[in-house]
Amino acid sequence: MKIGIVGLGFVGLSLTSVLASKKFNVIGIDVDKEKCRSILNGVSPFFEPDLEKTLKKGLKNKLQIASDISVVQDCDLIFVTVGTPQNKTGAIDLSIIKNAMLSLGKSIRKSKKQQIILIKSTVVPGTMKDIILPILEKNSKKKAGRDFGLISNPEFLQESTAIKDTKFPHAVVLGGYRTKFMKKVKNFFTKLHPNVPIIITNHQTAEMIKYANNSFLATKISFINQLSSICQKIPGANVDDIAKTIGLDARIGGLFLNAGPGYGGSCLPKDMKALIKFAKMTGVEPALLNAVEEVNTKQLDQIISITKKRLGSLSGKRITVLGTAFKPNTDDIRDSIAIELIKKLLRKKAKITIHDPKALENTRKIFGNKINYSRLVGDALSKSQCVILMTQWKQYEKLGNNEFKRMTKKIVIDGRRMLSGKQLDVDYFAIGLGKEK
Ligand code: UGA
Repeated sequence: MKIGIVGLGFVGLSLTSVLASKKFNVIGIDVDKEKCRSILNGVSPFFEPDLEKTLKKGLKNKLQIASDISVVQDCDLIFVTVGTPQNKTGAIDLSIIKNAMLSLGKSIRKSKKQQIILIKSTVVPGTMKDIILPILEKNSKKKAGRDFGLISNPEFLQESTAIKDTKFPHAVVLGGYRTKFMKKVKNFFTKLHPNVPIIITNHQTAEMIKYANNSFLATKISFINQLSSICQKIPGANVDDIAKTIGLDARIGGLFLNAGPGYGGSCLPKDMKALIKFAKMTGVEPALLNAVEEVNTKQLDQIISITKKRLGSLSGKRITVLGTAFKPNTDDIRDSIAIELIKKLLRKKAKITIHDPKALENTRKIFGNKINYSRLVGDALSKSQCVILMTQWKQYEKLGNNEFKRMTKKIVIDGRRMLSGKQLDVDYFAIGLGKEK
């Protein structure tokens, strides 16, 4: 059996590498030739723990990489993992997947195989039936369900644990009709992930499951962030003790209750916006989802107002931002709250220096010479008047008086309570902790 994977971003490249490392016959496809060259050399275009190791193992097992989609002709299973970003209004932008489906349809036209296409890209409910299926049928001159299979197969992996999540997913969702193709795919996943629940449902429900998952995670984060704001007003209150305790209740669960500067990244913010737009289109006013977004925006406003309260006017003030990646163990800065923070501080004419263990170069692509970059945390703090800790990189937990003494004014704003247990000779403020009077 030959497997094709169209789109080599986080999801596509992780899946390609994992399947090839398990000795499946895999071909990864991406229109970006430069990216393909790099992958063929065993170099990942982005940082993801364990990815390069897995990729190299796959390449040893004869993993193929191509930039021309017509190679899918020989494939039995074709996973589609292209991006579905948001447009300017916040709605989902389907242009990339529509183009991919057009070329895919043409490419499968000549194939003699009974191929199965699995769509992993996140799409709003109805997209499979109303957009993807018609484009594929028109361009392939084949009928879905008879000549080829079409299955929704949403992905739940997290960046920074993408390889582990690809190997050990918590569930497999298969949306579509109960055809022979569905049976085949179910067998494939049963063998690949024994003991993992496989949920078979229709297309629109599978599409909605993905939004339900991400919007619930965003809701948990905004919930704890809202509580953390209340805690800040209660002298001595600690949001982490609250999160830890309510997390012990199985009905609540302990994950995604880490209060901070708000959720960022290429998925939660985009999917929240898409779901809100979609809900409105259906005539449902998404009051809860709107509130989740509002709380998220307010987290950043709060950090800025704390900074202003401590520093006065920000114009000309030297501020250090520690961490620009949207979360630790990635170099991804897409929709990172830290990037948003820097943009806002720059508008107020602050002088910014940043440090990030992995995302320095990606950050440079956005700000160029508008800000300063430090490879060492100590240097980033030198002569600074205020430091804001944004991303929870492990190494920041080691910071102490020794490093802060290089600052001219020792104001420390801790977005993740990384230094909360320390005796610091600084003006310390942490999200989620009520300052003792
Ligand atoms: C998210 C989902 O977690 C995945 O299940 C999903 O597959 C993926 O989106 C996607 O749709 O592709 P990811 O974007 O990699 O994964 O990042 P998360 O780990 O969910 O973190 C998102 C944001 O929430 C980050 O800014 C993170 O710092 C923040 N967060 C997360 C918190 O502030 N507190 C928490 O307790 C957890």
